[in-house]
Amino acid sequence: MKINIAIDGPSAAGKSTIAQNLCKRLGYVHLDTGAMYRCTALKALEKKIPLSDEEKVCEMLKDTEIVLTPDGRVILDGRDVTSEIRQDHVSMAASDVSKLQNVRKDLVKRQQEMAKARGFIMDGRDIGTVVLTDAEVKIYMTASAHARALRRLLQNQEAGIETGDLESIEKEIEARDYQDMHREFSPLVKAEDAVEIDTSDLTIEEVCDKIYHLAEPYLSMQEKES
Ligand code: DC
Repeated sequence: MKINIAIDGPSAAGKSTIAQNLCKRLGYVHLDTGAMYRCTALKALEKKIPLSDEEKVCEMLKDTEIVLTPDGRVILDGRDVTSEIRQDHVSMAASDVSKLQNVRKDLVKRQQEMAKARGFIMDGRDIGTVVLTDAEVKIYMTASAHARALRRLLQNQEAGIETGDLESIEKEIEARDYQDMHREFSPLVKAEDAVEIDTSDLTIEEVCDKIYHLAEPYLSMQEKES
């Protein structure tokens, strides 16, 4: 049987990049749960629904299809929004809608359904604590705000996404971290059984090796079973 790996941590700590790399190595599928909050925010913004109106946002979600494809595309109601949801104003809006308890309930249910078959690396803020409490490997990934802002700037520039300068990105990241860590429902906290990895001075390969090493005992059990 395959396992599930949960990766939580603040924005731009490297969760998605590491998850994608590890998925290639393990033949697993990456589920970026942040993309689902981003889609919710984008649609609410487009429909001019106030981001604090829990009832209206939940009503909207009932009629919303979010598909995360195995090759990393994000499809919202049939439309490819992979780049659009990465814009800075959508990031903060995603953090705003993620405060709403019933929005979380809806998306968490979808995420648990998606990961049922196992063989997933899921990243977000509440994966180890709420969504996949039974994940065999749980990682809490961090990095300094400066290192994260620099990465986000380069990522945005490479992908041709409209972006602010380093200072404004660092401020946005700090504000979003504060909001994600201090909200009432499922705030970002390290799960008791998660292993913390600070990626500030590590290469992608070094981080992947660390997680692979943690998963190895389960993977060899998996080989023996098959
Ligand atoms: O991972 P990200 O930066 O794409 O996430 C966007 C926002 O969504 C983030 O600020 C908080 C929220 N989020 C959440 O509350 N729970 C998750 N599992 C994933 C994201």
